Amino acid sequence: MSYPPFLLQGQKALVTGASSGIGEASARCLARAGASVVINYHSEKEEAEKIVRDITSEGGEAIAIGANVAKEEEVRSMFDRMFREFGTIDILVNNAGLQKDSPFVEMTLDAWNLVIGINLTGQFLCAREAVREFLRRGVRPAISSAAGKIICMSSVHQTIPWAGHVNYATSKGGIDMLMKSMAQELAPRKIRVNSIAPGAIETHINTAAWNTPDARDKLLQLIPSGRVGVPEDIGKAVVWLASDDSDYVNGATLFVDGGMTLYPGFAKGG
Ligand code: BGC
Repeated sequence: MSYPPFLLQGQKALVTGASSGIGEASARCLARAGASVVINYHSEKEEAEKIVRDITSEGGEAIAIGANVAKEEEVRSMFDRMFREFGTIDILVNNAGLQKDSPFVEMTLDAWNLVIGINLTGQFLCAREAVREFLRRGVRPAISSAAGKIICMSSVHQTIPWAGHVNYATSKGGIDMLMKSMAQELAPRKIRVNSIAPGAIETHINTAAWNTPDARDKLLQLIPSGRVGVPEDIGKAVVWLASDDSDYVNGATLFVDGGMTLYPGFAKGG
């Protein structure tokens, strides 16, 4: 896939959880559109460094920085390092997330806190650091008409309840209100905050849902478009929301889900 390499020229992006899956595709797509990209990882250092090498060999600019987004000090030092290396931030992709599934009555407090900590508190901590820098620096008209852009990775499960995944669905519902409240508060300061809500995308978070013919058939019954998504489907939406092409879009959720939120069970009438 190709973009005008100047679309995000001169812009500095940070993608959390970028060592695999949707985060990796988002980082690669942003780099192809001309942004310099921080590949944040938690434990997958080698994978992150390989992505950096790939981007660099294609003529782009990237660095890998390790940090647990649920930890305030680690988030602060990640941003400090980014500012030392890249000078500033224009685009934050709040992507890091995980699932720790169990039936509701068996869910431990640790499983609850882990998922809320990474998926929701992590987005708050990273957004707060990014916004502080957007406000300090302000708009640079030659670079972008916004002072900064934040893209929150949500899920169809901000809308679709999900039995057996109460911690995860709650985190995504929280992201929806975090995103909209930030967008409302920060729009006058020329900061745009939006979400992407992916449906079923082939990544390691949901391998069991698509890697056998039976599982895939079952999954496809939930997807009117008739295919499981690929990470690049999301990466392309990230580039659009990060660019001035979406300048008038603020506080919105873009569902990239092959129609999963269209109540496919009702496709043949009630
Ligand atoms: C979850 C996946 C799931 C998809 C659709 C995503 O947010 O992480 O595990 O396949 O939603 O249900």
